[in-house]
Amino acid sequence: MIIFNRIQELQYQLNIARKAKKTIGFVPTMGALHQGHLALVQRSKAENDITVCSIFVNPTQFNDLSDLEKYPRTLENDSKLLQSVECDYIFAPEVSEMYTNEELELKRQKIEDNGWKQGKTVDFGMLDKVMEGAHRPGHFNGVAQVVSKLFRIVLPDKAYFGQKDFQQLAIVRSMTKQLGFNTEIIGCPIIRESDGLAMSSRNVRLTETERNVSPLISKTLFKVKEMQATHTIAELKAFAEAQIQSEPLMQLEYFEIADAETLQPISDYKQAKSAVACIALKLGNVRLIDNILLY
Ligand code: PAF
Repeated sequence: MIIFNRIQELQYQLNIARKAKKTIGFVPTMGALHQGHLALVQRSKAENDITVCSIFVNPTQFNDLSDLEKYPRTLENDSKLLQSVECDYIFAPEVSEMYTNEELELKRQKIEDNGWKQGKTVDFGMLDKVMEGAHRPGHFNGVAQVVSKLFRIVLPDKAYFGQKDFQQLAIVRSMTKQLGFNTEIIGCPIIRESDGLAMSSRNVRLTETERNVSPLISKTLFKVKEMQATHTIAELKAFAEAQIQSEPLMQLEYFEIADAETLQPISDYKQAKSAVACIALKLGNVRLIDNILLY
């Protein structure tokens, strides 16, 4: 396994692989790796000749500065974990390698249109107006910005994303299509702890008490899926909201049932061929999200 900090050095190595007709799989991450990330790497390894995993805490996707500062940074341990699953290359650039000062300044001023959209050829329509997009202004702009930069650097044949970030996956698919990247986007199942909590880099920030109550999130989603055959959407929403509100340590941000393709909220099952239940909440100081496909 080789760790690269510089774009040029990684590209040099990848060009050699490409000339030898090797396929490249890519797993973008922000580090603080867990089994969920390792499952993505393992899938990439099974489907490609070379696997690149990036570790980069992307400043442009954080709308809350303290969240960015508190984001766990554990490169040494991450490298060991990636070594254990035989990842080929790690790309761990500094912020200055990925962004110009001008781009960072525009972000500080909350000016989203900093040119990365290539003359506004990317438009997410209503995809980024709901749920995470509505609650974290500028977040998806930053995600799409960094993923498009990373795709331009790595030029992967396939890229792997977890379905825990269901809306992010839809944004990345849309960005990939609109910018014409020749990369297949692969969505991979949510990996859960044995008590149901969806794995997330943020889980390490939960106190013991918070961690003990956290399985209520997935329990609520599993129950909602069970109830779906016999209850209306309004009933499911009322149930889920009451469940979360019954736990004083949790502050619900949203619980939404949405069309799994357009991500627009639905009020009747007939409105969508396939629907997803999505939840976001604060548990203490930690913001957690989760989701379940209903049908
Ligand atoms: O899901 C993440 O960890 C990040 O949003 C991503 C895709 C690596 C972009 O920074």
